[in-house]
Amino acid sequence: MRYMGSLIFLYLAIFGVLLSLCSVKGNYCEVNLCHNGGTCVTGVGDDPFICICSDGFAGDTCNLTETGPCSANPCRNDGSCEVISPTRRGDVFGEYLCRCQPGFDGAHCQINVNDCANQPCKNKGVCRDLDGDYTCQCPSPYVGKQCHLRCTSLLGMEGGGILGSQISASSIHYGVLGLQRWGPELARLNNQGIVNAWTSAADDRNPWIEINMQKKMRLSGIITQGASRMGTAEYIKAFKIATSFDGTTYSILRVDGLRNDKVFVANIDNESTKTNLFEPPVVAQYIRVIPVVCRKACTLRMELVGCELNVRSNTTGCSEPMGMKSRLVSDGQLTASSAYRTWGIDSFTWHPQFARLDKQGKTNAWAAATHNRSEWIQVDLEKTKRITGIITQGAKDFGVMQFVSMFKVAYSDDGQTWTMVKQQNVFKDQIFQGNIDNNSHKKNLFEPAFYARYVRVVPWEWHERITLRMELLGCDD
Ligand SMILES: *[C@@H]1O[C@H](CO)[C@@H](O)[C@H](O)[C@H]1NC(C)=O
Ligand SMILES: *[C@@H]1O[C@H](CO)[C@@H](O)[C@H](O)[C@H]1NC(C)=O
Ligand SMILES: *[C@@H]1O[C@H](CO)[C@@H](O)[C@H](O)[C@H]1NC(C)=O
Ligand SMILES: *[C@@H]1O[C@H](CO)[C@@H](O)[C@H](O)[C@H]1NC(C)=O
Ligand SMILES: *[C@@H]1O[C@H](CO)[C@@H](O)[C@H](O)[C@H]1NC(C)=O
Repeated sequence: MRYMGSLIFLYLAIFGVLLSLCSVKGNYCEVNLCHNGGTCVTGVGDDPFICICSDGFAGDTCNLTETGPCSANPCRNDGSCEVISPTRRGDVFGEYLCRCQPGFDGAHCQINVNDCANQPCKNKGVCRDLDGDYTCQCPSPYVGKQCHLRCTSLLGMEGGGILGSQISASSIHYGVLGLQRWGPELARLNNQGIVNAWTSAADDRNPWIEINMQKKMRLSGIITQGASRMGTAEYIKAFKIATSFDGTTYSILRVDGLRNDKVFVANIDNESTKTNLFEPPVVAQYIRVIPVVCRKACTLRMELVGCELNVRSNTTGCSEPMGMKSRLVSDGQLTASSAYRTWGIDSFTWHPQFARLDKQGKTNAWAAATHNRSEWIQVDLEKTKRITGIITQGAKDFGVMQFVSMFKVAYSDDGQTWTMVKQQNVFKDQIFQGNIDNNSHKKNLFEPAFYARYVRVVPWEWHERITLRMELLGCDD
């Protein structure tokens, strides 16, 4: 009896809520125009009222029946449902089959396959399982999707590939009545002679020495060495590293996962070399050594270790999905100028986090709140990557096909200053051809490819509403 009592109470409560919903929401919902248990809502958007249908029903007033075993999709993890024998046996529908997205398995795609099972990461790389993909965290100096590439070229301080004009410093020490110039161009590993290294001025409280590589390079480490001056050993005991893309904004290398600057332990005498690796390697054009503790004076000879970025010679060799679909790109890495809400309802928000290729569901894409060319969606890849292409896809909103038919692409190193992708040999923004329907993939390649941490898609023409699912293509190196 207690059970019956609470059940009745529950019904009364639900009835009460529905009743109050209807009375509050005004005229259209007073007479519930929604069939089959649909919920009626007014006061949102331009429509006088909308119906949120129960599972298995569809249409503006929920008067259409979605039939079959695939209605209310039984497949999980964005798997698509397919009816394989549509025969009705009494009340029971025939069989269905779940077609799973890559990386999922099981009758209902409920199993997330471990893509790390085959140990794809070489050279002690640490594997992380993604949806239908994996990512390797490579120990320096290994790079590449599978940590299979070594990034250990000597970049030319000792060999001379880096010219004196590419090396600059905060100050210079002039010795012996100003006759000896310990200039930055001398800071070359194993440099010989009486004046054979860079030394900062004695009164320089924030010394640094910088190398401009003249293009973006991957840097995996640095070899340092002191020198002796007038019979005294001088060297840098500890330093920090700052890097920059433009020679204006610098970021100091951090201890992985922490906010603290990384302090590298360096030399202990005038002659021996010390190698420090960057974990992980960094991409930069400018690298700055910032002495923190110096013995006698901040005196340095050095070599940079790294590699060219275009390890692969063409675009085809570098077209891995960058993780929109596999979720390597997490929700926090996706932002947009705005997000549309169907009928103003929060639970029907077309978040930028939904802009993942092949995402399923009722709201399964990013949609912009307005119809104009100042809308954008942005991916922060968290580190600089080589981007060679993009796949875009539309979606549908309650049966209405929506897509972006033309778009522009911009990229940035810092999320502040943006470069538009231009047409080759012409100083005009390139306009890419986008989608033509709600579902098919459209692939565009960037020729030439670009390096960036942030990528932005700017819709230029669209059908109905600006609606986008996408994947970026490229590679780490
Ligand atoms: C569903 O309702 C609409 C009006 O709300 C009507 O035009 C349509 O014919 C109905 N469909 C069915 C299958 O009853
Ligand atoms: C410099 O290093 C060499 C080789 O280790 C050593 O013989 C020499 O005494 C050192 N000079 C000074 C000034 O420390
Ligand atoms: C591009 O590189 C891939 C893989 O490295 C190779 O298979 C392909 O033949 C190359 N294509 C061209 C046009 O060089
Ligand atoms: C885009 O739409 C928003 C909101 O309607 C408006 O504030 C903005 O001025 C529009 N921008 C352009 C370039 O039309
Ligand atoms: C969306 O795409 C699917 C598959 O391409 C197609 O069957 C369907 O008719 C499309 N829906 C709309 C509303 O155009």
